[in-house]
Amino acid sequence: MSTEPVLKTPEVHPALPAEETRRNFIGGQWRAAEDGRLVQSHNPATGEFLGAVPQSGAAEVNAAVAAARDAFDSWRKTPAPKRAEILFRAGELLIQHKAELGELMVREMGKVRSESLGDVQEGIDMTFYTAGEGRRLFGYTTPAELPDKFSMCARDPLGVVAAITPWNFPLAIPTWKIMPALVAGNTVVFKPAEDTPLVATELVRLLAEAGLPEGVLNLVHGVGEETGAALVEHPDVALVSFTGSTEVGRQVAIRGAELMKRVSLEMGGKNAILVLEDADLDLALEGIVWSAFGTSGQRCTAASRILVQREILPELTERLVAATEKLRLGDGLSPETDVGPVINGVQLQRIHEYVQIGQAEGARLLCGGEIATEGDLAKGHFYRPTVFGDVDPSMRIAQEEIFGPVTALIPVADLDEAIAVNNATRYGLSTSLYTRDINAAYRAIREVTTGLFYINAGTIGAEVHLPFGGTRGTGNGHREAGQAMLDIFTEWKTVNVDFSGRLQRAQMED
Ligand code: UN1
Repeated sequence: MSTEPVLKTPEVHPALPAEETRRNFIGGQWRAAEDGRLVQSHNPATGEFLGAVPQSGAAEVNAAVAAARDAFDSWRKTPAPKRAEILFRAGELLIQHKAELGELMVREMGKVRSESLGDVQEGIDMTFYTAGEGRRLFGYTTPAELPDKFSMCARDPLGVVAAITPWNFPLAIPTWKIMPALVAGNTVVFKPAEDTPLVATELVRLLAEAGLPEGVLNLVHGVGEETGAALVEHPDVALVSFTGSTEVGRQVAIRGAELMKRVSLEMGGKNAILVLEDADLDLALEGIVWSAFGTSGQRCTAASRILVQREILPELTERLVAATEKLRLGDGLSPETDVGPVINGVQLQRIHEYVQIGQAEGARLLCGGEIATEGDLAKGHFYRPTVFGDVDPSMRIAQEEIFGPVTALIPVADLDEAIAVNNATRYGLSTSLYTRDINAAYRAIREVTTGLFYINAGTIGAEVHLPFGGTRGTGNGHREAGQAMLDIFTEWKTVNVDFSGRLQRAQMED
């Protein structure tokens, strides 16, 4: 393991002042892309230019993968508790820099300060939780069926891991991938979303400062079509861990299958809150507003369907619309703001198109339904929080992920219908149920086919020490976070020691 300091001062791009450029991080050095192409990062609330990063091509990806491959042998042989010490230090650094990382995140991604700080906190939690694995990474021993034979199994790292991450949790989601990959002894090439490269750069800077040997973690910026695709294609990448859209995830899965590499996917959601007539409506309402409009609806766990028992639908509808209309749009740095912008103009248009589709399908627009342009809002990408009524479960707005501040009220007769409607989408990430009836709660626990289930809480707010992921088209069977994360980032090795001194033939001895 190299003992040289890893962090070297980033070079300055000739065309831009130092504070406006960031570099890739390859083999322990901050490097520009060979051809000098750049991707710009802007504040989605104000349009302010924040900085530029390299648009990496095959040359940068090849260099990053080579650096990760070269670092692998020494890193996998570094004792796991020692690897974890670096993560513990990174966790301390994240705590020290929490406030400024949160502020940078508000400016780059748009969500309000409390949510951005929550994102950083989730990254801190993940870092410490995963660092604890350095002294666990449990395998097990089990009796052998043959005499004088000892059987055990242990986890091995895979090699070079590609971590491809989205913009909606620019710090937390990278930690879900990078930290378990590293503690298990893999080396990493990290390709963050092109909308949030600056937060990603700061995370890598802190991990390097914590003492990662060179090449163990590499950062390549750029757009998915070019940079992400080159990583997926690279023969020395053993695992692609991807969070993002279902469309892209499907392509990654197809290509990964052809190339026979492990692919772990976290994709869309069409999450529902089920509200039964006996529910505490005040509580349910708070949970709905938070889950539907927190992060401007840009969580894969966001509640975009509200399935309500008919008896309480009129009251809940009226109260939800009133609460939604009160939400204040604005810059996430302002303490007045409840709901920040959406990430970019393309997403803004996509959200608006879905609203038009909903209207064309016959859903009743109860509030919102437009791009907000008054005053300073015109400078950014703001969509008014939107509620649809009279939504039929088969409508596109009840089936497809919108990823914006839009939710759909769907009337249901009873718990059975609510569960059936909940389960009948192509996704299965998060579901919640509001009820005071314990029998209904336990029945629903058994019947809902989602990866995450909440009773008397909204659909968002997963904690890092529990498995995170979904059924059906949400993923491909893996779970991030919790103990389950280790199954993504390790390979089991079963070891048998025969100390009988003779040939023993399994299944053939008397
Ligand atoms: C995501 O939206 O991709 O449970 C992740 C939650 C957060 C994580 C969301 N802890 O909403």
